[in-house]
Amino acid sequence: MRSYLILGMLKGKFFFGIVAFFLDSFGLYAQIDTNIKDEQYRPLIHFSPKEKWVNDPNGMVYHNGIYHLFYQYHPNSSVWGPMHWGHATSKDLVHWKREPIKIFPDSLGTIFSGSAVVDKNNTSGFGKKGVVPIVAIFTQHNEAGEKAGKNDYQNQSLAYSLDNGKSWTKYSDNPVLKSPGIRDFRDPKVFWDEPTKKWIMSLAVVDRIYFYSSYNLRNWTKESDFGETAGAHGGVWECPDLFPLDYNGKEIWVLIVNLNPGGPNKGSATQYFLGDFDGKNFSPYSIETKWLDYGPDDYAGITWSNTGKRKIFLGWMSNWMYANFVPTETWRNAMTIPRELKIVKTGNDMLVASTLIKEIAKLKSKPVVSKNVVLSKPIDIAKTSSIKFPCLINLSTDSIKDFSVTLSNDDSEKLVIGYDRASNQYFIDRTRSGKTNFHKEFAAKHTAPRFVNISKLNLSLLIDVSSLELLADDGLTVMTVIFFPNKPYNQIQVGSTERAVIKKLEYIKLKSIWR
Ligand code: FRU
Repeated sequence: MRSYLILGMLKGKFFFGIVAFFLDSFGLYAQIDTNIKDEQYRPLIHFSPKEKWVNDPNGMVYHNGIYHLFYQYHPNSSVWGPMHWGHATSKDLVHWKREPIKIFPDSLGTIFSGSAVVDKNNTSGFGKKGVVPIVAIFTQHNEAGEKAGKNDYQNQSLAYSLDNGKSWTKYSDNPVLKSPGIRDFRDPKVFWDEPTKKWIMSLAVVDRIYFYSSYNLRNWTKESDFGETAGAHGGVWECPDLFPLDYNGKEIWVLIVNLNPGGPNKGSATQYFLGDFDGKNFSPYSIETKWLDYGPDDYAGITWSNTGKRKIFLGWMSNWMYANFVPTETWRNAMTIPRELKIVKTGNDMLVASTLIKEIAKLKSKPVVSKNVVLSKPIDIAKTSSIKFPCLINLSTDSIKDFSVTLSNDDSEKLVIGYDRASNQYFIDRTRSGKTNFHKEFAAKHTAPRFVNISKLNLSLLIDVSSLELLADDGLTVMTVIFFPNKPYNQIQVGSTERAVIKKLEYIKLKSIWR
């Protein structure tokens, strides 16, 4: 059953690849390129490609003052197809510069997901004349091998850059880690383990994570595997990440495992485990599933490498169920906002909480603040004429009651976000949010549990023109959703079915990162 699901997923992508190929051949994409209507959905505070298809973030690394973001990119169409590594750079994680494509397919295959590291000690030997190399480790997916029915078509390869990521040279002896004959064998994420003085690679292998070690990034030895009987297994495991977070001086290891399908609100989602790592084995404190984001639209997320103790996470803001069909044609899909991860204790459990990166402060205008707002009827969050997107809404209350925040337009299209006391859940309802009929699973009400049992509640909503990121209870519950209203939303109202009092309500307009 599982292998059927996995094959189904990949086949789905290849089907789109074939459709794209035919459209490309007839030059149809060139025509669509001039169509500017898609710009109404273009994110203003999130990274999106100028044109064509994007999926997973890849090779995220900080080096010499620059945050690099590579990503799965199909330059010839706006549906998934032969993968390249696109590239963007940022000095502050907020403003992005779109760079040329950096890693191209070759005879070994197309360029699937992977990571990048700064090889400070030049263990790889790629550094020349004292220049520290950035080394990318990625999966090469050999379509010919797959079509021929082989099992070893996903192998790991290297490329390096000696000019701060501007140009890349593939290693002449690729691949460095060959598939042992397992079809789903991909998405290497590598870090330097100081105690063992080795590189550690986490690799997604069907339904578990393999851990490998290496002294030089070129030769890899398998150390252990984890996960066959842990966590959620509704689909294939993809895009892992392993890193320590500090909790009151103690090192807690986080293992991120992306899963597709099988997420809490269907389709793609990101689960994680907390535990110990001794340089060889990952030992979880619990094998129960924990989700980093309960919304449907945060997938393939991993963290930046070389940022010290600060761990910054970024995901792809879509879901494989409908990513190929969302109603933009010239460009398709975007990334979430970068989030900082930290460990929080709740009762006897520990969770990873997400916070919006502090650099977002750069985009903020003066907050419009209301205090002790009584919600006997729905009220406008600010004067209707002044509602603008993107924006950030912060809300807090001392006595928890049902409430909702509704974004709407003059056509009665609406996105409803809220908290339901009876089920103790947050929710985002996009059933009447605008264009939804491009896929049967899109129009849905998504829910997420609340993890704390206290009467104080806080909620932040980061709203862009076609996405919303909810962070509740200091980031313990997170939900990301995308939406496509026919006309832009121009009203935000807060309401309650009970007599709720919002202690503080803040509306903060955000500046676009592209102007
Ligand atoms: C996750 C994923 C990865 C793979 C890439 C291909 O979304 O399926 O496992 O490397 O996308 O584009």
